[in-house]
Amino acid sequence: MKTIIITGATSGIGFECARQAARIAPRNQIILTCRNLEAGNSVVQNIARQTGHQHLSCMQLDLASLSSISAFKAQLAEKQLTGIAALINNAGIQNIAKTQYTNDGFESTFGVNHLAPFYLTLLLLPLMDGNASITFTASGVHDPKQKTGIEAPVFKSAKELAYPAETYEKLNLAGQRRYSTSKLCNILTVYELQRRLTDTNIRVNAFDPGLVPGTGLARTYPPLLRLVWKYVFPALRYFVPNVNTAQNSGKRLADLACSADYQYARGKYFEGTKEIPSSGDSYNQNFQRLLWESSVALLGIHQNETTVSLN
Ligand SMILES: NC(=O)c1ccc[n+]([C@@H]2O[C@H](COP(=O)([O-])OP(=O)(O)OC[C@H]3O[C@@H](n4cnc5c(N)ncnc54)[C@H](OP(=O)(O)O)[C@@H]3O)[C@@H](O)[C@H]2O)c1
Repeated sequence: MKTIIITGATSGIGFECARQAARIAPRNQIILTCRNLEAGNSVVQNIARQTGHQHLSCMQLDLASLSSISAFKAQLAEKQLTGIAALINNAGIQNIAKTQYTNDGFESTFGVNHLAPFYLTLLLLPLMDGNASITFTASGVHDPKQKTGIEAPVFKSAKELAYPAETYEKLNLAGQRRYSTSKLCNILTVYELQRRLTDTNIRVNAFDPGLVPGTGLARTYPPLLRLVWKYVFPALRYFVPNVNTAQNSGKRLADLACSADYQYARGKYFEGTKEIPSSGDSYNQNFQRLLWESSVALLGIHQNETTVSLN
């Protein structure tokens, strides 16, 4: 039985993506990964009740911990699972309140949004189906030309992003920049990984869900802004382009990753259902290579742990 793995399915876009995946892939096994097994199991029951899907489960995975990621991989290998048909790297955070660090000491936005899905993807490649899809939930905020109101990304090596120098800048600005930069890193990864997988049928794509107010992404915002995010911003979708409900964006993400309609897409950036160019920086092959090499070095991955060439 083929398997679909979705990270960050306990809320927001990932939850809706899992619901749609359950509808379009009734015979596939769907594994939702979650930090909290109790929350994950209740999501599984909820989606199974709504869709009648019989092969849904949840497994523990904390993306702020490299040992949790390698333990997750080990559990899949123990189950002799080999047919991963889709990996949807959707989980993410936007931390604008204070600088925090993952269990391994990496700045948390960079650690959870870039290093973790990068590591997870490399470790899972040996368990993937030959025609698998790998999809990263990125964001339009990676592109300064989109004028999203979020600080523009500044790309540095993985090392400098993982261990940022002390900043005297306002934390919300530094936090926004870390977020937009982590999303740029997702897209740099998509292009570099797809190039390294040229001789395979595995397809790697990036997805911008648009602005999706009301999700848990604003959890570090001040209380008033959280209320605006939840109750005011959703109305913007009637006036502003590319503002969506979690339901719409989650469905589009699942379609991109799992539907035959997107089999052609390799190394592409999608805004919703539309393939568009990503930012100028995202196509910079020096950035792509530097991010790849510095991430590999930081994570200490060995060639025998993955099937893609690390060099
Ligand atoms: N909402 C938007 O406007 C928007 C726009 C562009 C891109 N995005 C991207 O869309 C993705 C989903 O965001 P969302 O808006 O749906 O936000 P959300 O409701 O907060 O969902 C985030 C998901 O990531 C999970 N997660 C966070 N930290 C984790 C960790 N350390 N380990 C494992 N899972 C973790 C959360 O799990 P818990 O329940 O355990 O916290 C949750 O399931 C993110 O990558 C985000 O950057 C969102």
